[in-house]
Amino acid sequence: MKEKIENLRNEAKEKISEIKNMQELQDLKVKYLGKKSELTAMLKSLGTLGAEERPKVGSLVNDVRREIENKLEEAEKHFKEQALAQKLEKEKIDITAPSTKIKRGSKHPINRIIEDIQDLFVSMGYDVVAGPELETDEYCFERLNLPKGHPARDMQDSFYITNEYLLRTQTSSVQARTMIANEDKSPIRMICTGKTYRREDDATHSHQFNQVEGLVIDKKELNVSLADLKGTLEVFVHKMIGANLDLRFRPSYFPFTEPSYEVDVTCFKCQGKGCPLCKKTGWIELLGAGMVHPNVLKMNGYDPEKYSGFAFGTGIDRLAMFRYGITDMRYLYTNDIRFLSQFDRKDEE
Ligand code: DAH
Repeated sequence: MKEKIENLRNEAKEKISEIKNMQELQDLKVKYLGKKSELTAMLKSLGTLGAEERPKVGSLVNDVRREIENKLEEAEKHFKEQALAQKLEKEKIDITAPSTKIKRGSKHPINRIIEDIQDLFVSMGYDVVAGPELETDEYCFERLNLPKGHPARDMQDSFYITNEYLLRTQTSSVQARTMIANEDKSPIRMICTGKTYRREDDATHSHQFNQVEGLVIDKKELNVSLADLKGTLEVFVHKMIGANLDLRFRPSYFPFTEPSYEVDVTCFKCQGKGCPLCKKTGWIELLGAGMVHPNVLKMNGYDPEKYSGFAFGTGIDRLAMFRYGITDMRYLYTNDIRFLSQFDRKDEE
């Protein structure tokens, strides 16, 4: 019996020293310490031994059992440590490694310009006002000195929804809205940026585009003048497109201003020398502007004897083209990622 136990001890020690993984360890645990193991069987059979031999063999079996338990525990500890070390090694993070670039979208050039325009005019004390895109004939035309049947309505092809409602053809409608909404008829300094719509059917015009409108009204004695308009538009053009551009005021006609002007800027492409883009004139038409027509003041609750002001409007899409040197307006609306990704965020903050 003793010899058998000793053999078992040696065999177990050898096997344990050869263990390669947790599974083998579990198997040996079952084999040497489990319910069906030889040691358990021996303990059970102690009763068949004589009284003298029983305690000796019993303590030997228990010793061997403890020894095997300890060895197995040691081996288990070793494997656990090894597994942890491997895991740590595998999950090691190199905090000095360069990060992978996160791809982010960028602001559309139109939105960039809109934000810049708003910032500029807010810095000059203007309010930023919004108005509806689905507009009434009254605000889009009538209150701007364009009664039904007026020939100047032909200047803009409109999308009428009903007889009374249309998609606004110009942000000038917000001039009338602001004057009407201002119940105490106090001075106004506002701009409005937003979408406008016209029934254009040639390839170079979009049926939807963006405009900015400006309106300044103040008491007559403050004498808001053409010089103020000119200075304001100069700041606007210089900040938005280029500091070295000249402005040229050409007499023109708009129903809501008197006198009215079209404002040209030096051609951004040839710097005024003359090129195909400016049709060899050196100038590019940019804005409409003028002194608010007395009829418009009157129709919207301002007494033209007491108040005067100026107004201006322009296409934001054209501004974006000038600023970024975009030669085809359609790029702004086709959402081509190759075009849009040129406007990354670098110049934003
Ligand atoms: N609303 C005009 C247009 O869409 C532009 C314009 C001209 C606006 C003269 C004005 C202005 O405020 O005074 O063509």
